[in-house]
Amino acid sequence: MFQTASPTFSRKDWQKGYESLRNEQAYWIDEVEGEIPLELEGTLFRNGPGQLDINGEKFGHPFDGDGMICAIAFKDGKAHFANQFVKTPEFLAEKSAGKILYRSVFGTQKAGGWLSNIFDLKNKNVANTNVVYQGGKLLALWEAARPYSLNPKSLNTLGEESFDGKLTAGQVFTAHPRKDDHTGDLWGFGVQPGPKSTISIYRISDRGELSTESQVRVSGFCFLHDFAYTPNYRIFMQNPVSFQPLPFILGLATAGECIELKPNAPSQFLLIDRQGKVQTIETDPCFVFHHCNAYEEGDEIILDSVCYPDYPKLEPNTDFREIDFDKVLAGQLYRFTINPKLGTVKRKLVLARSCEFPVVHPRCVGQKHRYAYIGAIAQESGNAPLQAIAKVDMETGKQEFHSFAPRGFIGEPIFVPRGVDGAEDDGWVLVLIFDATHNRSDLVVLDAQNIAGKPVATLHLKHHVPYGLHGSFTKEIF
Ligand code: CO
Repeated sequence: MFQTASPTFSRKDWQKGYESLRNEQAYWIDEVEGEIPLELEGTLFRNGPGQLDINGEKFGHPFDGDGMICAIAFKDGKAHFANQFVKTPEFLAEKSAGKILYRSVFGTQKAGGWLSNIFDLKNKNVANTNVVYQGGKLLALWEAARPYSLNPKSLNTLGEESFDGKLTAGQVFTAHPRKDDHTGDLWGFGVQPGPKSTISIYRISDRGELSTESQVRVSGFCFLHDFAYTPNYRIFMQNPVSFQPLPFILGLATAGECIELKPNAPSQFLLIDRQGKVQTIETDPCFVFHHCNAYEEGDEIILDSVCYPDYPKLEPNTDFREIDFDKVLAGQLYRFTINPKLGTVKRKLVLARSCEFPVVHPRCVGQKHRYAYIGAIAQESGNAPLQAIAKVDMETGKQEFHSFAPRGFIGEPIFVPRGVDGAEDDGWVLVLIFDATHNRSDLVVLDAQNIAGKPVATLHLKHHVPYGLHGSFTKEIF
């Protein structure tokens, strides 16, 4: 059982961060505490569910909300904010109908019970999970479809991206590509799940051209949200889940609710080499959404990941705003040491406190990292919404926290280096927080070398931004 610590937040405060933001706007951020560093130049893009209801009819899961892109551009010590929804045909159709027209993967059904949902196997593309700028294209990502291409300046939606026909309709691209800072390539994958699943490994060059490195078939249903890569391997954790589609087909449950963790079944690492050869190595059962980073050291692969003891899904027909945090599974940061030659895995707990959204310095992606930045809860044990940013030193084990509790709630941190060759933690951690006191969001700039210290700058937005998912930073200024 979890220990009950004194609560670090009020549920009412936390719930307010799930209100929809329907206005699309663009303005200079003129309320700033501290100073925006002059060397901080570029654009922070964020994606996440901007709309969590249509005319008060609520989506059943935060992951089902419509994708909204925020862009915060930094130049000359000033910052500009803009936001736009990804204008998918489904978003536009529901907007003009004024009601929910589609089922969504995680927890949303059409009104009218199973009769309205039976045999409707279409899931809405919510384009809400991540946003990256690569080769002149701004891509809004959702893992069960192709990316949506947007104009990086105006954020206007251009349409589904096929990369000159190389991704055909029905093919998919992950919401978790990883950028190789040294070559400029963006590495990603797509999974076509089934009784046997197909994993395609994709590269998008710095000119925006997509190519397929390999395509492999693996046995079993795959739910692969993220991967890690090193110079020689593309690394997946195949969570031991099964998909029982009948309740989904019959309209009784959403697709996401039909996923179950197989009891006592091991998890498996899938190591795909550059030639497309797959090696499978079993490890203790656990569920992973996000990997932090991986690198090779001698014969071993070191991989840091956030692990859950089970698949953390919501009970059907419960309002996620009312969840009991004491019953929510906590993710914890683990370090895996994988030896492909011996076929062995060791696992060690790194950060025991419930945490999510791990990141590293961009030049360390696929290379050895010392520091990880990650969202964490503000209390030492139990579970709660994420309210703190943790910096973990993998070499010394030192853990530092910057807490925004009791009235601040955080999202994914992004590390932005000050220069090209500085120390690994010479830079800033950018994080969007929801401040319940003022019912608005702030973009906070923390000094990564003094994470617990006073923020370098706090930029007050004129409104809140609903809790987001993932984003990225580019040196280009839009
Ligand atoms: Co994710």
